[in-house]
Amino acid sequence: MHTKHKRFHYQCLDEIKNVSQELGLNLQFDEDLSILGRQVIIHDKILPNSLAIQPMEGHDGTRDGRPGELTFRRYRRFAAGGAGLLWFEATAVTPAGRANPQQLMLSADTLPDFRRLITETRDTAARSFGEEHRPFTVLQLTHSGRYSKPEGIPQPVIAFHDPYLDDETHVTSSQKPISDQELRALEDQFVEAAKLAQEAGFDAVDIKHCHRYLPSELLGAYTRDGEYGGSFENRTRFLINVVDKIKASLGDGIIVTTRINAYDGTPYPYSWGAVTKDGSREMCLDEIKKLAGILHEKGVPLINITAGNPYHNPHINRPYDLPIKGGSLPDEHPLVGVARLIDVARAVQESVPEMVVMGSGYSWLRQFLGNVGAANIRNGWVTLVGVGRGAFAYPDFAKDLLHDGMMDPSKTCITCSRCTQLMREGKEAGCVVFDRKAYGMTSRTQRD
Ligand SMILES: Cc1cc2nc3c(=O)[nH]c(=O)nc-3n(C[C@H](O)[C@H](O)[C@H](O)COP(=O)(O)O)c2cc1C
Repeated sequence: MHTKHKRFHYQCLDEIKNVSQELGLNLQFDEDLSILGRQVIIHDKILPNSLAIQPMEGHDGTRDGRPGELTFRRYRRFAAGGAGLLWFEATAVTPAGRANPQQLMLSADTLPDFRRLITETRDTAARSFGEEHRPFTVLQLTHSGRYSKPEGIPQPVIAFHDPYLDDETHVTSSQKPISDQELRALEDQFVEAAKLAQEAGFDAVDIKHCHRYLPSELLGAYTRDGEYGGSFENRTRFLINVVDKIKASLGDGIIVTTRINAYDGTPYPYSWGAVTKDGSREMCLDEIKKLAGILHEKGVPLINITAGNPYHNPHINRPYDLPIKGGSLPDEHPLVGVARLIDVARAVQESVPEMVVMGSGYSWLRQFLGNVGAANIRNGWVTLVGVGRGAFAYPDFAKDLLHDGMMDPSKTCITCSRCTQLMREGKEAGCVVFDRKAYGMTSRTQRD
């Protein structure tokens, strides 16, 4: 019995505030949302407001990694929605690291298409809000590690054997972890991709370290031998090396950032952000805070904080009302999950107040996400409020929050997991509920 899990059913702010209090959560809700319109400065760029769109794969690229028509459409819709930052989705730096055959991939061949993607996106934003409205753009660079399926079937690449994840990721006991030499070569592939992203015209590149894809797994590589395992210095080596190499080769030509887990949600010694050595899943944020401080000293101005693993513990990653087909409901109120994601971003923001910290996991809050986001910004708990699934459903939520001071409750994401379901079924992913024309008709995604 999942007695603690409840679906969202709140009509007014007081109702959700009350449930937050009953659950003993430290969530705050502002009625004045004007702070969401606060500009944010990252180096010489001015973000027009404090609302952001999280990276969201649409599983709609071409076989050779170019953005497809639905990809272009998605970013035009996001641009016309008014958010101050657009974080472009997971984009592989090498074919072996693609999560699926439709995942975007940046290479010399696909560069012209990425250039067109960024140009169309910026033009749409300027047409919608004027030339001065220039959303900050980040491209997320990835290697999917144990979740790699470049040809549609699992071809996992592992940093180490993980008893919690090996079986569910088709890793056999005889599989060899990626070697140190291969990791050094992969660092260079991230650097090459960063150069291409700069040529394409992105403001920043994200060296993706979240959700237990390969670089994220390295952060928890206590049991790995060699230069990338064991100590904090070794487990963070990949990220630090890539940051240093990009800075050495591109200088300030492109801003470097990372979307990073604060906490994986699996036990030590196979996990990042797990504290105790007794096998519990309790979190400890000392290492993420230390790493954020080091990145800040290296001139990384922005960090996007997330948590969990979308396959293994999705409720930590994206609190939901309904799971994907065959998935389960956690014995946890989704608001607890939202509060956890807010707390981990807050811990980083408070430890490095000068950094621009972007928070995740707001979509379950529906029309109240602006109230929580505004309070978090006002309290100095976060700088940018990032919205993921909510933007698939309601791409112009930012415009409504900024201009009308509210979101339309009849348009918000209902956290039904169907967008993820589409991905898992190898289909183009988007909002089946509110974007029926593009996804509803083609999708035969049914709940059992
Ligand atoms: C269909 C789908 C695709 C996603 N693609 C990415 C991605 O490319 N990169 C990433 O870091 N996170 C990805 N995420 C996770 C979201 O960015 C976000 O962290 C998560 O949905 C929780 O935020 P939300 O509550 O605002 O949706 C994806 C999530 C979904 C549902």
